[in-house]
Amino acid sequence: MVLIDAREVNKDYHNGEVMTHVLKNLSLCVSEGDFCGIVGPSGSGKSTLLYVLSGLEPPTSGSVLLTGKDLSHVFETEMADLRQKTIGFVFQFYNLIPNLTVYENLLLPMIIAKDHQPKRIEEALEAVGLIEAMHQYPNQLSGGMQQRVAIARAIINRPKLIFADEPTGNLDQKSGIEVMNLLQKLNHEYKITIILVTHNLEHIHYCTRKIELCDGMIVSDEQRTL
Ligand SMILES: Nc1ncnc2c1ncn2[C@@H]1O[C@H](COP(=O)(O)OP(=O)(O)OP(=O)(O)O)[C@@H](O)[C@H]1O
Ligand SMILES: [Mg+2]
Repeated sequence: MVLIDAREVNKDYHNGEVMTHVLKNLSLCVSEGDFCGIVGPSGSGKSTLLYVLSGLEPPTSGSVLLTGKDLSHVFETEMADLRQKTIGFVFQFYNLIPNLTVYENLLLPMIIAKDHQPKRIEEALEAVGLIEAMHQYPNQLSGGMQQRVAIARAIINRPKLIFADEPTGNLDQKSGIEVMNLLQKLNHEYKITIILVTHNLEHIHYCTRKIELCDGMIVSDEQRTL
């Protein structure tokens, strides 16, 4: 099943007089089960592509279908619902709320999605191997552990799809490998489709597909055998 179908997407940013044409007539299909690794130079539009595919930013032209729904025809409330329940995000900086415990950080997205099932907090922490950190505060954890909490938060509403924008960018090599192993487990065992942006070519070994972006265009897109 096709999860994302982006067709002839263009994305411009306007800053005063300056216009930046970031995504250029880009088309991309992502199927359920894919683990896509997006690589490309800084400024090539990788983050912008994630924002547009996830509906955080509208394309300037072209269309994005997420689970068959054309995002430009979805009302804001339905969009929020779709984002909360279908998509999980993981960023380079973990964005955990410092004065909330791990438990409370994981509770928050369920409250926002009005789907309050605290049992899932334990399940998510077990999935990322951090059940013992449940009542700790983010600053009591290492960077790698905080990123694993952020991944637990991303899966709490049982998304079909995770967008991860350089999730290992701020981590040492060992923690980076742990995060990659975890993403692979979510892909294999939990059947979550993953779209990862990375600067680390070694991490492409975990992916089933490598997509190379250059100057806002896809210059190569290859399936990989693990
Ligand atoms: N909100 C914005 N307003 C104006 N220009 C922007 C905005 N966001 C991104 N850009 C520009 O769009 C281009 C692509 O940015 P983007 O962040 O998508 O690149 P990237 O491939 O993710 O780079 P990096 O590897 O450094 O994270 C850059 O030229 C950037 O300056
Ligand atoms: Mg980026």
